[in-house]
Amino acid sequence: MSTNLRNVTLICAVPILLGVALATGLAWSGTPDSTAAVAAAASGPVQKWAKVSVELPASHAAFPPGNGADIANGQCLICHSAGMVLRQPPLTLDEWTGEINKMRNSFGAPLPADQVGVLARYLVGINGRQQSPKGPAAVDGQGS
Ligand code: HEC
Repeated sequence: MSTNLRNVTLICAVPILLGVALATGLAWSGTPDSTAAVAAAASGPVQKWAKVSVELPASHAAFPPGNGADIANGQCLICHSAGMVLRQPPLTLDEWTGEINKMRNSFGAPLPADQVGVLARYLVGINGRQQSPKGPAAVDGQGS
């Protein structure tokens, strides 16, 4: 009987002792001392970074020569590359005019209104198509 009682005491004592040990450990890890130790370890040795070299894709640096190229180079490279304009599907005069006015009215391009016509004719010359006999297509040239 007394052996059984000792066994029961042992079986109950083990989880209680484990719980006390765990609680003490948690309380210990939250003390200001340990926080300071972590901070000291983080600001210890200087982190060395590996050198990385990145090859960016080639881009048209400027618009091709022509009447209006100076306007395009001066006004359209403020926000994006020439490639953004040159890689579009070919547009008609009306569509380029709409595209330029979208840049002015929606995106805030500071192009003066009296230069829109010259620029639109220049863009048709380098990346244009004839007006469809069926009528105007969508402004971005898709679906036509
Ligand atoms: C104030 C900034 C700004 C200026 C200046 C500007 N653009 Fe844009 N352009 C944008 C933004 C923003 C987009 C959209 C980019 C995107 O969709 O990721 C864009 C996109 C474009 C596109 C792609 C088609 C589209 O509609 O999204 C074309 C073509 C274009 N611009 C033409 C021009 C031309 C021509 C000029 C010169 C008059 C010009 N942009 C000047 C801001 C500008």
